[in-house]
Amino acid sequence: MKILRVDSSIKPEGSVSKQLSDEIITKLAPSEVVVRETNGIAPIDANWLGAVFTPEDQRNAQQIEIANASDQLIAEINEADVLVIGVPVYNFNIAAGLKNWIDQIARVGVTFRYSEAGPEGLIKGKKAILAFSSDGTAANSDIDFAHRYMLHILGFIGITDVKSVIAQQMAFDRDTALKAAQEQIASL
Ligand SMILES: Cc1cc2nc3c(=O)[nH]c(=O)nc-3n(C[C@H](O)[C@H](O)[C@H](O)COP(=O)(O)O)c2cc1C
Repeated sequence: MKILRVDSSIKPEGSVSKQLSDEIITKLAPSEVVVRETNGIAPIDANWLGAVFTPEDQRNAQQIEIANASDQLIAEINEADVLVIGVPVYNFNIAAGLKNWIDQIARVGVTFRYSEAGPEGLIKGKKAILAFSSDGTAANSDIDFAHRYMLHILGFIGITDVKSVIAQQMAFDRDTALKAAQEQIASL
């Protein structure tokens, strides 16, 4: 089994989502782990749009570089069996780096397409495990725009087999929250 580990915590140390991802990967005992740090991934912009919507054989040097970076992130997904994605909650949402990763990999005609039946995800046969960590926000509550968003966007690109390890509302009772997450890891 090959894992793509996607990290997005902004903490230099003490990241709970990274700790959970470590433990998830130990539990799964994969043959190979590729780590994708999302801090530092470029946000999409006008140049990005110009690059990815220009036919491959007509791209200039800058557009080739921009499109290659996006292609590389998509290739990492395609080469993995399982994605382990850290989902720390910042301001009720996902980390900016994780959003940039999503913006880079959500490509019409590449990772999704619009058909007569509606949108269709083109990434098939992958599993994902989310390592969610929050201090006050409960996963899947009305004020959660991180976990629910991740489920939606992963499904949109075709990844529907998603499990979650959730260390939530740690500000209230950290030990209980972490214990619940450990139990979820044990039952993966
Ligand atoms: C800038 C910032 C914003 C945060 N916003 C929220 C929030 O909106 N809701 C929440 O439950 N926790 C919030 N937290 C707490 C984090 O979710 C918590 O520290 C969690 O462990 C983050 O994952 P990490 O440890 O992997 O970075 C915030 C933390 C930081 C640093």
